[in-house]
Amino acid sequence: MRTHYCGQVTAADLDQTVTLCGWVHRRRDHGGVIFIDLRDREGLVQVVCDPDRAETFHTAESIRNEFVIELTGKVRRRPAGTENANLVSGEIEVLCHTIAVLNASVTPPFQLDDDNLSENVRLAHRVIDLRRPQMQKNLMLRYKVAMAFRRFLDGQGFIDVETPMLTKSTPEGARDYLVPSRVHPGQFFALPQSPQLFKQLLMVAGFDRYYQITKCFRDEDLRADRQPEFTQVDIETSFLDETEITAIMEDMIRYVFREALAVELPDPFPRMTHAEAMRRYGSDKPDLRVTLELTDVTDAVQDVAFKVFSGPATSGGRVAALRVPGGATLTRGEIDEYTKFVGIYGARGLAYIKVNDVTKPNDEGLQSPIVKNLHEEALRTILERTGAESGDLIFFGADKTKVVNDALGALRTKLGHEKGYVSGAAWTPVWVVDFPMFEYDEESKRWVACHHPFTAPKDEHVELLESAPGECLAKAYDLALNGWEIGGGSVRIHRADMQSKVFRALNIGDEEAQIKFGFLLDALRYGAPPHGGLAFGLDRVVTLMTGAESIRDVIAFPKTQRAQCLLTDAPGEVDDKQLRELHIRLRQKIETQVEVAKA
Ligand code: AMO
Ligand code: AMP
Repeated sequence: MRTHYCGQVTAADLDQTVTLCGWVHRRRDHGGVIFIDLRDREGLVQVVCDPDRAETFHTAESIRNEFVIELTGKVRRRPAGTENANLVSGEIEVLCHTIAVLNASVTPPFQLDDDNLSENVRLAHRVIDLRRPQMQKNLMLRYKVAMAFRRFLDGQGFIDVETPMLTKSTPEGARDYLVPSRVHPGQFFALPQSPQLFKQLLMVAGFDRYYQITKCFRDEDLRADRQPEFTQVDIETSFLDETEITAIMEDMIRYVFREALAVELPDPFPRMTHAEAMRRYGSDKPDLRVTLELTDVTDAVQDVAFKVFSGPATSGGRVAALRVPGGATLTRGEIDEYTKFVGIYGARGLAYIKVNDVTKPNDEGLQSPIVKNLHEEALRTILERTGAESGDLIFFGADKTKVVNDALGALRTKLGHEKGYVSGAAWTPVWVVDFPMFEYDEESKRWVACHHPFTAPKDEHVELLESAPGECLAKAYDLALNGWEIGGGSVRIHRADMQSKVFRALNIGDEEAQIKFGFLLDALRYGAPPHGGLAFGLDRVVTLMTGAESIRDVIAFPKTQRAQCLLTDAPGEVDDKQLRELHIRLRQKIETQVEVAKA
């Protein structure tokens, strides 16, 4: 029907007759001349209808926003001074000869160029929302990124193998989405939290290099960077160690950024142990654009009078300092705001010291409600270790290690970006390696896998599996970018005896292991090759590239924070017949029936 995309008509087409199809973005009636901004996925073009052609003009008068039209016209240069540098087609306009309305539109629920739309309104009318140029750009970039991943992996001999969606529960740590079986009363499939076990089985089956761009499902609390169904670029290889795997992966990420964004990322990516990341940044996904760092002072405040510090310092907690260069200018109000902010992370306060004169580590040179309760030696150590100078401010966190890391880690990035403590680098990838195998779950009072239970321990740490699980490090690695975890993986256990050992460390008995993962343990007995891999969060990578605030902005039809689709109104109720077929009776209904019966 058309000769060009609207957004691609340029001065190269001057004096040509073009036929365009698209949506009316805007129609302006300039008393005698009607301007139409016609839009398609490639962008906008300005169309001019003048009254000389009566029939065309008459049609143009009847046109409203979001009508779909087809028109033919001649490309001409815009009058001097009216060019639009923001548009590819900004130098030209199309003088309309004929116009046809292909379909009318009722008045849209909102103006497409309204920047202050509530997200719920956008999600409820997602079709219209997706027409907005920004959303068109986001989804096209997403496609470009996915294709770049595919091209790179294909070039490296990886093959795409699909794995099932209806499967058994996998232990990625979140809650499963379950699907009831009609054929097997009372039994359920789980939607995969990732293809983890299947990709390992593919390695045992000899496929050597696998990848898949696939949906994963996790029923967990949602945030800006989390969706209940999201997309992984999932990868597994055989016969490569940690260093080799991460080397290919970082080549891939560099390739994808070059192809999709024309951005050159550093080569190589810096690496940092998990322990160092926690110590210096309070986070296993540090935002290295921010230059502020935490300093550990736990050992220096064990015997101070200030119980808020000495308490955690002598009972296995952490006391850390965050030096803010020149921060003595922060106002009382700002400090109160930051104190409130760290409260979100469970911190019970935010002690601080203003350094007026660094040569006087006491009441005289330091201004703070807590100075009188810290002895001079402790103060001297704090100043030295943080590298403080006169005019600085030092914040403190003192609590259980996790609370201090979460609170000061978050404060570091917030304050860093707000007050400009940034390096100027736009992209700061960093590998975080040597993760612990296990972390202690206070709720269930047992060790749980940091990554997942199929992750191999470091060779020299195998002994620690039993004797000191908390100190056992794993062959696991995450890639963080600008404070987001964009990917994570590990070298896997490829021997059944080692896998059983790790299950035991996790308090998964032999019988339970057999029921849950018997198929994996079996496969490991039939000549499983050494293997490992990793998965990238595609939604997260694209979100960072677009600068969007939420991953919902790079997903065509996302769920809300409350895990609903406002467009289709899912989840929804189903009728009794469907439930009967699935052998399901709803408790809520039973309870209502009982109540009705009682009444
Ligand atoms: P992991 O659980 O770390 O590893 O997930 C890999 C990557 O997927 C992304 N991601 C998410 N993105 C959006 N919404 C979510 N709810 C969500 N959860 C995770 C993150 C994360 O880095 N099977 C292992 C990988 C492996 O070991 O090979 C796994 O799933 O970017
Ligand atoms: P208080 O003795 O409760 O008045 O607290 C003195 C200072 O210590 C205040 O600035 C509090 O914000 C701060 N503070 C209290 N608890 C903590 C904590 N757990 N970590 C860091 N600072 C704290």
